[in-house]
Amino acid sequence: MATRLATVRTTPARHLAPEGTQEWWRTAVVYQVYLRSFADSNGDGIGDLAGLRSRLPYLSWLGVDALWINPHYPSGGADGGYDIVDYRAVDPDYGDVADLEAVVADARQLGLRVILDVVPNHTSDQHPWFQAALADPDSPEAARYHFAPASEEPPNNWRSLFGGPAWSRTPDGRWYLHLFAPEQPDLNWRDPAVAEDFDRTLRFWLDRGVSGFRVDVAYGLFKDAQLRDNPGSYSPTLFGHGPEQAMTWNQPEVHDVWRRWRAICDSYPDTMLVGEVCLADLEQVAQYSRPDEMHQSFSFRLLKSGWSVDAFADGVRTALDAFGSVGAPVSWVLGNHDKDRQVTRFGGGEMGTARARAAALMMLSLPGSPYLYAGDELGLPQAVVPDEAKLDPIFHRSGGARAGRDGCRVPMPWNASAGVGFSPDGAADPWLPIPAEWDQFAVSRQTRDGGSMLTLYRRALALRAAHSALGSGDATVSTRGDVLTVRCVGDGETVRCVLNMGSGTALVRSTGTVLLASSTRVRHSGRSVALPPNTAVWLAED
Ligand code: NOJ
Ligand code: CA
Repeated sequence: MATRLATVRTTPARHLAPEGTQEWWRTAVVYQVYLRSFADSNGDGIGDLAGLRSRLPYLSWLGVDALWINPHYPSGGADGGYDIVDYRAVDPDYGDVADLEAVVADARQLGLRVILDVVPNHTSDQHPWFQAALADPDSPEAARYHFAPASEEPPNNWRSLFGGPAWSRTPDGRWYLHLFAPEQPDLNWRDPAVAEDFDRTLRFWLDRGVSGFRVDVAYGLFKDAQLRDNPGSYSPTLFGHGPEQAMTWNQPEVHDVWRRWRAICDSYPDTMLVGEVCLADLEQVAQYSRPDEMHQSFSFRLLKSGWSVDAFADGVRTALDAFGSVGAPVSWVLGNHDKDRQVTRFGGGEMGTARARAAALMMLSLPGSPYLYAGDELGLPQAVVPDEAKLDPIFHRSGGARAGRDGCRVPMPWNASAGVGFSPDGAADPWLPIPAEWDQFAVSRQTRDGGSMLTLYRRALALRAAHSALGSGDATVSTRGDVLTVRCVGDGETVRCVLNMGSGTALVRSTGTVLLASSTRVRHSGRSVALPPNTAVWLAED
């Protein structure tokens, strides 16, 4: 018997609630726009704000609530825009401030909110402050960074997350601190001028109607005041620092910054902050989302989990517990611009795709705020980027030992034309090469295909908006063998998300209705549902 699919309401994105009537961010589905790779309007091979603006109807049609735009600022170009030269401007590659305002205004018309990225831990080495600091060690700007006098050895054993020591020399022999690339000098947040300037930056963009910020390296900013050695050796992962890095991350003083930023946001209705807090201990991560700090801090557990029922169950439970204890929603993440694409992480090919489909249903059933990375709704795999085209400092600083993140940042395929519709016809080459076979993933193809990844996402988002149990219910997680069940209860209805992570078919007793299945191979007959390996289903209980 064929899978029974309930009728899916396909309303446009939920419209903005009247200001102040609800905390929209608690359950918002946020779509992460990698601006450089989203849509190129003027044919220079680089995605831009006008391109994004032209594609906003797509995001509304897809059914998300908000978008987070990766850094749009003038940048030194050393780390994908995370090395900022001017915090209150737009990089000419992307347009200008008026273009950003136009994106915000159009998004609002469509019921979508816009969140910007802000990078307070470090500037670009091209930033006027750092340039002034290089020119004059006694300048006020020099006090805004971490400099140490010329000496044989760097001041301590700290390592850069991108490889190599965290200290580099200035031309006059001083040392300066950069926990990321040398082109990203760390700011000294003990200097009040730094905090004051960021206040101005937040207000500058909030005055232009944005709905908040994703805060880069929110667990950084302050360093041990004595710059003492870290007790342990650094393990080369972007996520999950612990006590071995105790001197560089998670200093208690940082929480005062988030209280200060929260107070600013509270003076603008309906705005929010979501922090990137890469600490291994989720209880610590949740501390960044206490009621007077940021509204959310990412839970990266699922992003870091392999295809394992225990890892997924643990990832969901620990996040619900940790964030629940501070009254914050969980912000769920399965993909972003720092991690290999899900399809590839989960084994690649048909199997990886099947798993990514099933994982999406699981994540979208959970209470809280899921973040969807552009292209994951198309099932894009990690692209193979030739070494000579790679730009990521992780690849270059590790001498090629680490592949880097270029493969998850390749431009979006919009249609099946030769350039897959990323740029207008006759444009320059895209800034990262797009694999020749990516026309198969094009939005235009997938919108016409009832079985596509895109259709699955759109159906799931419509159902999530229509059923209170999904996305805003009370969830309990259980496992039986390799089968993970999330039981979601909301407003008198119960929906179970059942995910089969094992290698055999799982039989689940149910007399309810199949709201959505990740695969047409899921069978519902009378009293039970048969789930082949790597599939998931949403079951509305009678
Ligand atoms: C985290 C960002 O997501 C990543 O892309 C960036 O390289 C580092 N922070 C440094 O800003
Ligand atoms: Ca462009």
